[in-house]
Amino acid sequence: MRVIHRIAELRQALAGSSATAFVPTMGNLHAGHLALIERARKAGGPVVASIFVNRLQFAPHEDFDTYPRTLERDCELLRKVGCDFVFAPNEAELYPQRQVCTVHPPADLADILEGHFRPGFFIGVCTVVLKLFNCVQPRYAIFGKKDYQQLLVVRQMVRQLALPIEVIGAETARADDGLALSSRNGYLDEVQRAEAVYLSRELRAIDSAVRQGRSDWASLESAAMDALSARGWRPDYVAIRRRIDLGEPAAGDAVVVVAAARLGATRLIDNLELSAVS
Ligand code: PAF
Repeated sequence: MRVIHRIAELRQALAGSSATAFVPTMGNLHAGHLALIERARKAGGPVVASIFVNRLQFAPHEDFDTYPRTLERDCELLRKVGCDFVFAPNEAELYPQRQVCTVHPPADLADILEGHFRPGFFIGVCTVVLKLFNCVQPRYAIFGKKDYQQLLVVRQMVRQLALPIEVIGAETARADDGLALSSRNGYLDEVQRAEAVYLSRELRAIDSAVRQGRSDWASLESAAMDALSARGWRPDYVAIRRRIDLGEPAAGDAVVVVAAARLGATRLIDNLELSAVS
């Protein structure tokens, strides 16, 4: 496995590869990321992972400065799962000047839910993802469904800008108790870690209510928000939405429940594609 820090060197290394499979990350890797690499290996090759903590997608009050940077350990893990190249540019390489050309995804998808609570987040994500796509020029790009809205926003960008890339959504990796794996889980203390599982439990409770025929979305959403609040969480949203574009579901639409909530200082997100249609 080769670790590359420069765009020019990366382009040279990948020249002639027509089936590159790419997994963009911000590092601090866990088993969920490694599952994305496995998925990438099935899609094509060589497999490239990027590690770059993208300042553009963090608001000033968020955790950009404290986000864990663990390049050496990440590279060891990537080597073990058969990644071929790690692209780890520094900020001067990816943003040599202030990034004034940015990608603005459409408000109806990108300014709701995560985009409402983290204004500008998807501008930062799309800008870096497009730039990374231009560096790597992959045929396949693998994104986790854990960041469900991000996956849809990136898919739409790829479609609208006619990028020759197949975006593959990979299932969310979970701990044994059901907690979705996330780099931010590392911020939780022992007590919070035990509590964190309740976010996925609320989503599963909605799933079983829907299986039993409930379709009163608003009351299911507010019951889950209330249950989390009663346990000491500060929920931003629990929302049952159309899978395809996160719009309000109409009869017959396949649906997903998406949620974000703070546990202490840590903001966790999760989602579940519901078994029943609306
Ligand atoms: O999902 C992430 O880790 C980031 O949003 C991404 C896609 C690597 C862009 O910085």
